[in-house]
Amino acid sequence: MALLEDQIAVITGAGSGIGRETATTFADHGAAVVVADIDVEGGEATVETITDAGGEATFVETDVSDPDDAKAMIETAVDEYGGLDILYNNAAIEGPVAKLEEYDNDAFEQVIDVNLKGVWYGMKYGIEAMLADGGGSIISASSIGGEVAVPQYSGYGAAKAAVSHLTKYAALEYAEDGIRANAVAPGIVRTEMIERTIEEHPEMEEQFQNTEPMPGLADPEEIANAVVFLASDLSSRVTGTTLPVEGGYLAQ
Ligand SMILES: NC(=O)c1ccc[n+]([C@@H]2O[C@H](COP(=O)([O-])OP(=O)(O)OC[C@H]3O[C@@H](n4cnc5c(N)ncnc54)[C@H](O)[C@@H]3O)[C@@H](O)[C@H]2O)c1
Repeated sequence: MALLEDQIAVITGAGSGIGRETATTFADHGAAVVVADIDVEGGEATVETITDAGGEATFVETDVSDPDDAKAMIETAVDEYGGLDILYNNAAIEGPVAKLEEYDNDAFEQVIDVNLKGVWYGMKYGIEAMLADGGGSIISASSIGGEVAVPQYSGYGAAKAAVSHLTKYAALEYAEDGIRANAVAPGIVRTEMIERTIEEHPEMEEQFQNTEPMPGLADPEEIANAVVFLASDLSSRVTGTTLPVEGGYLAQ
Protein backbone atom coordinates (compact mmCIF):
# COMPACT_ATOMS: atom_id res chain seq x y z
CA MET A 1 0.00 0.00 0.00
CA ALA A 2 1.44 3.40 -1.01
CA LEU A 3 1.16 5.57 2.10
CA LEU A 4 2.73 8.78 0.76
CA GLU A 5 1.20 9.14 -2.71
CA ASP A 6 1.74 12.68 -4.12
CA GLN A 7 3.48 13.85 -0.95
CA ILE A 8 6.50 16.16 -1.12
CA ALA A 9 9.26 15.41 1.38
CA VAL A 10 12.58 16.90 2.45
CA ILE A 11 15.03 14.59 4.25
CA THR A 12 18.28 15.93 5.69
CA GLY A 13 21.29 13.64 5.91
CA ALA A 14 19.72 11.48 3.21
CA GLY A 15 23.10 10.66 1.68
CA SER A 16 23.78 7.82 4.12
CA GLY A 17 22.37 5.37 6.65
CA ILE A 18 18.89 5.92 8.07
CA GLY A 19 18.29 9.05 5.96
CA ARG A 20 19.07 7.24 2.70
CA GLU A 21 16.93 4.25 3.67
CA THR A 22 14.05 6.56 4.58
CA ALA A 23 14.40 8.48 1.30
CA THR A 24 14.12 5.30 -0.78
CA THR A 25 11.25 4.02 1.41
CA PHE A 26 9.37 7.35 1.06
CA ALA A 27 9.85 7.18 -2.72
CA ASP A 28 8.59 3.57 -2.76
CA HIS A 29 5.46 4.88 -1.01
CA GLY A 30 4.92 7.49 -3.73
CA ALA A 31 6.58 10.63 -2.33
CA ALA A 32 8.83 13.02 -4.25
CA VAL A 33 11.96 13.47 -2.13
CA VAL A 34 14.39 16.35 -1.75
CA VAL A 35 17.63 14.73 -0.61
CA ALA A 36 19.57 17.31 1.46
CA ASP A 37 23.10 16.46 2.58
CA ILE A 38 26.50 18.07 3.08
CA ASP A 39 27.98 15.03 1.29
CA VAL A 40 27.44 15.56 -2.45
CA GLU A 41 28.52 12.07 -3.52
CA GLY A 42 26.28 10.33 -0.98
CA GLY A 43 23.31 12.56 -1.72
CA GLU A 44 23.58 12.11 -5.46
CA ALA A 45 23.88 8.33 -5.02
CA THR A 46 20.60 8.31 -3.07
CA VAL A 47 18.88 10.29 -5.83
CA GLU A 48 20.22 7.86 -8.43
CA THR A 49 18.88 4.87 -6.49
CA ILE A 50 15.43 6.48 -6.32
CA THR A 51 15.25 7.63 -9.94
CA ASP A 52 16.62 4.29 -11.23
CA ALA A 53 13.67 2.65 -9.46
CA GLY A 54 11.25 5.05 -11.19
CA GLY A 55 10.79 7.47 -8.28
CA GLU A 56 11.21 11.23 -8.05
CA ALA A 57 14.09 12.83 -6.18
CA THR A 58 16.35 15.90 -6.26
CA PHE A 59 19.63 16.52 -4.46
CA VAL A 60 20.46 19.82 -2.80
CA GLU A 61 23.84 20.35 -1.15
CA THR A 62 23.02 21.50 2.37
CA ASP A 63 24.79 22.21 5.61
CA VAL A 64 21.85 22.09 8.03
CA SER A 65 23.74 24.25 10.53
CA ASP A 66 23.70 27.14 8.03
CA PRO A 67 20.32 28.92 8.07
CA ASP A 68 20.67 30.04 4.43
CA ASP A 69 21.23 26.43 3.35
CA ALA A 70 18.28 25.24 5.44
CA LYS A 71 16.05 27.87 3.82
CA ALA A 72 17.31 26.92 0.35
CA MET A 73 16.59 23.20 0.85
CA ILE A 74 12.97 23.99 1.74
CA GLU A 75 12.72 26.35 -1.24
CA THR A 76 13.95 23.51 -3.46
CA ALA A 77 10.88 21.45 -2.47
CA VAL A 78 8.55 24.37 -3.15
CA ASP A 79 10.20 25.34 -6.46
CA GLU A 80 10.71 21.79 -7.83
CA TYR A 81 7.57 20.05 -6.57
CA GLY A 82 5.14 22.81 -5.52
CA GLY A 83 5.15 22.66 -1.71
CA LEU A 84 6.18 20.74 1.38
CA ASP A 85 4.22 17.98 3.17
CA ILE A 86 6.91 16.09 5.11
CA LEU A 87 10.18 17.18 6.69
CA TYR A 88 12.51 14.63 8.27
CA ASN A 89 15.28 16.38 10.21
CA ASN A 90 17.62 13.40 10.22
CA ALA A 91 21.14 14.82 9.70
CA ALA A 92 23.45 14.63 12.70
CA ILE A 93 27.02 13.95 13.72
CA GLU A 94 28.05 11.72 16.61
CA GLY A 95 30.80 13.97 18.03
CA PRO A 96 33.52 12.66 20.29
CA VAL A 97 33.27 9.71 22.65
CA ALA A 98 34.68 11.32 25.79
CA LYS A 99 33.79 12.13 29.37
CA LEU A 100 32.79 15.75 30.05
CA GLU A 101 36.10 17.16 31.21
CA GLU A 102 37.87 15.63 28.21
CA TYR A 103 35.22 16.66 25.65
CA ASP A 104 36.65 19.20 23.19
CA ASN A 105 34.97 22.65 23.26
CA ASP A 106 34.90 23.11 19.47
CA ALA A 107 33.52 19.62 18.97
CA PHE A 108 30.74 20.37 21.48
CA GLU A 109 29.79 23.51 19.54
CA GLN A 110 29.79 21.60 16.28
CA VAL A 111 27.50 18.89 17.68
CA ILE A 112 25.06 21.52 18.95
CA ASP A 113 25.25 23.43 15.64
CA VAL A 114 24.39 20.41 13.48
CA ASN A 115 22.23 18.27 15.77
CA LEU A 116 20.19 20.99 17.50
CA LYS A 117 20.43 24.26 15.58
CA GLY A 118 20.12 22.31 12.31
CA VAL A 119 16.81 20.84 13.46
CA TRP A 120 15.56 24.23 14.65
CA TYR A 121 16.36 25.89 11.29
CA GLY A 122 14.69 23.01 9.45
CA MET A 123 11.56 23.40 11.56
CA LYS A 124 11.52 27.18 11.20
CA TYR A 125 11.66 27.25 7.39
CA GLY A 126 9.76 23.97 7.00
CA ILE A 127 6.85 25.26 9.09
CA GLU A 128 6.78 28.45 7.02
CA ALA A 129 6.32 26.37 3.85
CA MET A 130 3.81 24.00 5.47
CA LEU A 131 1.66 26.90 6.71
CA ALA A 132 1.47 28.12 3.12
CA ASP A 133 0.53 24.63 1.93
CA GLY A 134 -2.19 23.44 4.32
CA GLY A 135 -0.07 21.67 6.96
CA GLY A 136 2.26 18.69 7.09
CA SER A 137 4.26 16.31 9.24
CA ILE A 138 7.68 16.99 10.78
CA ILE A 139 9.82 14.17 12.12
CA SER A 140 13.15 14.80 13.82
CA ALA A 141 15.90 12.37 14.77
CA SER A 142 16.39 11.98 18.49
CA SER A 143 18.09 8.97 20.11
CA ILE A 144 18.04 6.80 23.21
CA GLY A 145 20.84 9.17 24.30
CA GLY A 146 18.26 11.97 24.35
CA GLU A 147 15.95 9.99 26.66
CA VAL A 148 18.50 8.65 29.16
CA ALA A 149 22.19 9.42 29.71
CA VAL A 150 24.61 7.30 27.70
CA PRO A 151 28.03 7.98 29.27
CA GLN A 152 30.66 9.70 27.08
CA TYR A 153 28.06 11.22 24.71
CA SER A 154 27.17 14.41 26.65
CA GLY A 155 27.09 16.77 23.64
CA TYR A 156 25.17 14.36 21.43
CA GLY A 157 22.75 13.40 24.22
CA ALA A 158 22.08 17.01 25.25
CA ALA A 159 21.31 17.94 21.63
CA LYS A 160 19.01 14.93 21.19
CA ALA A 161 17.12 15.67 24.43
CA ALA A 162 16.63 19.20 23.14
CA VAL A 163 15.35 17.86 19.81
CA SER A 164 12.64 15.88 21.63
CA HIS A 165 11.69 18.95 23.67
CA LEU A 166 11.71 21.22 20.61
CA THR A 167 9.36 18.73 18.98
CA LYS A 168 6.79 19.43 21.72
CA TYR A 169 7.02 23.17 21.04
CA ALA A 170 6.46 22.70 17.32
CA ALA A 171 3.56 20.31 18.02
CA LEU A 172 1.76 22.70 20.37
CA GLU A 173 2.42 25.92 18.48
CA TYR A 174 1.01 24.48 15.23
CA ALA A 175 -1.58 21.94 16.43
CA GLU A 176 -4.38 24.07 15.01
CA ASP A 177 -2.64 24.54 11.66
CA GLY A 178 -2.58 20.94 10.46
CA ILE A 179 1.11 20.53 11.28
CA ARG A 180 2.17 17.54 13.39
CA ALA A 181 5.66 17.24 14.89
CA ASN A 182 7.17 14.07 16.30
CA ALA A 183 10.60 12.61 16.90
CA VAL A 184 12.02 9.13 16.54
CA ALA A 185 14.52 7.71 19.04
CA PRO A 186 16.56 4.82 17.61
CA GLY A 187 18.84 2.63 19.72
CA ILE A 188 21.87 1.23 17.88
CA VAL A 189 21.46 1.05 14.12
CA ARG A 190 23.85 -0.53 11.63
CA THR A 191 25.04 2.59 9.72
CA GLU A 192 28.27 4.40 8.90
CA MET A 193 27.87 6.42 12.12
CA ILE A 194 28.19 3.26 14.22
CA GLU A 195 30.86 1.78 11.95
CA ARG A 196 33.00 4.92 12.43
CA THR A 197 32.70 4.63 16.20
CA ILE A 198 33.62 0.93 16.15
CA GLU A 199 36.62 1.69 13.96
CA GLU A 200 37.90 4.27 16.47
CA HIS A 201 36.87 2.33 19.58
CA PRO A 202 36.87 -1.39 18.69
CA GLU A 203 36.12 -2.26 22.32
CA MET A 204 32.63 -0.74 21.87
CA GLU A 205 31.45 -3.27 19.29
CA GLU A 206 30.47 -5.86 21.89
CA GLN A 207 28.77 -3.17 23.98
CA PHE A 208 26.73 -2.06 20.94
CA GLN A 209 25.78 -5.67 20.14
CA ASN A 210 24.38 -6.06 23.64
CA THR A 211 22.79 -2.64 24.17
CA GLU A 212 19.24 -3.46 23.10
CA PRO A 213 17.26 -6.22 24.86
CA MET A 214 16.32 -7.51 21.39
CA PRO A 215 19.45 -9.20 19.99
CA GLY A 216 21.97 -7.38 17.79
CA LEU A 217 21.69 -4.03 16.01
CA ALA A 218 18.69 -2.53 14.24
CA ASP A 219 18.59 -2.28 10.44
CA PRO A 220 18.05 1.25 9.00
CA GLU A 221 14.85 -0.12 7.42
CA GLU A 222 13.33 -0.62 10.88
CA ILE A 223 13.74 3.08 11.64
CA ALA A 224 12.58 4.14 8.15
CA ASN A 225 9.30 2.22 8.61
CA ALA A 226 8.62 4.04 11.90
CA VAL A 227 9.29 7.36 10.14
CA VAL A 228 6.83 6.41 7.37
CA PHE A 229 4.21 5.84 10.09
CA LEU A 230 4.87 9.29 11.59
CA ALA A 231 4.94 10.94 8.16
CA SER A 232 1.72 9.38 6.91
CA ASP A 233 -1.95 9.69 7.84
CA LEU A 234 -1.62 6.42 9.79
CA SER A 235 -0.46 8.67 12.66
CA SER A 236 -3.01 11.45 12.04
CA ARG A 237 -3.69 11.98 15.77
CA VAL A 238 -0.07 11.60 16.94
CA THR A 239 1.84 14.80 17.70
CA GLY A 240 4.44 16.03 20.20
CA THR A 241 5.79 12.57 20.92
CA THR A 242 9.12 10.77 20.63
CA LEU A 243 8.72 7.24 19.31
CA PRO A 244 11.42 4.86 20.60
CA VAL A 245 12.64 2.27 18.07
CA GLU A 246 15.21 0.57 20.25
CA GLY A 247 14.37 -3.09 20.83
CA GLY A 248 13.06 -2.39 24.34
CA TYR A 249 16.09 -0.46 25.68
CA LEU A 250 14.02 2.28 27.33
CA ALA A 251 11.67 -0.23 29.00
CA GLN A 252 14.43 -1.26 31.40
N1 LIG B 1 23.03 4.87 13.85
C1 LIG B 1 22.56 4.84 15.08
O1 LIG B 1 22.80 3.92 15.85
C2 LIG B 1 21.67 5.96 15.57
C3 LIG B 1 21.09 5.83 16.83
C4 LIG B 1 20.26 6.84 17.31
C5 LIG B 1 20.01 7.96 16.53
N2 LIG B 1 20.60 8.07 15.31
C6 LIG B 1 20.33 9.28 14.55
O2 LIG B 1 19.82 8.95 13.27
C7 LIG B 1 20.22 9.95 12.33
C8 LIG B 1 20.92 9.32 11.15
O3 LIG B 1 22.09 8.66 11.60
P1 LIG B 1 22.89 7.60 10.73
O4 LIG B 1 23.29 6.53 11.66
O5 LIG B 1 22.16 7.28 9.49
O6 LIG B 1 24.21 8.46 10.42
P2 LIG B 1 25.15 8.55 9.13
O7 LIG B 1 26.42 9.14 9.63
O8 LIG B 1 25.20 7.26 8.40
O9 LIG B 1 24.38 9.62 8.22
C9 LIG B 1 24.29 10.97 8.58
C10 LIG B 1 24.17 11.81 7.33
O10 LIG B 1 24.08 13.19 7.75
C11 LIG B 1 24.91 13.96 6.91
N3 LIG B 1 25.35 15.18 7.59
C12 LIG B 1 26.25 15.32 8.59
N4 LIG B 1 26.41 16.61 8.92
C13 LIG B 1 25.57 17.30 8.11
C14 LIG B 1 25.28 18.69 7.96
N5 LIG B 1 25.90 19.62 8.71
N6 LIG B 1 24.36 19.06 7.05
C15 LIG B 1 23.75 18.12 6.27
N7 LIG B 1 23.98 16.81 6.35
C16 LIG B 1 24.89 16.41 7.27
C17 LIG B 1 26.10 13.05 6.58
O11 LIG B 1 26.79 13.49 5.43
C18 LIG B 1 25.39 11.71 6.41
O12 LIG B 1 24.97 11.53 5.07
C19 LIG B 1 21.09 10.93 13.13
O13 LIG B 1 20.30 11.99 13.59
C20 LIG B 1 21.57 10.10 14.29
O14 LIG B 1 21.93 10.88 15.39
C21 LIG B 1 21.42 7.10 14.81
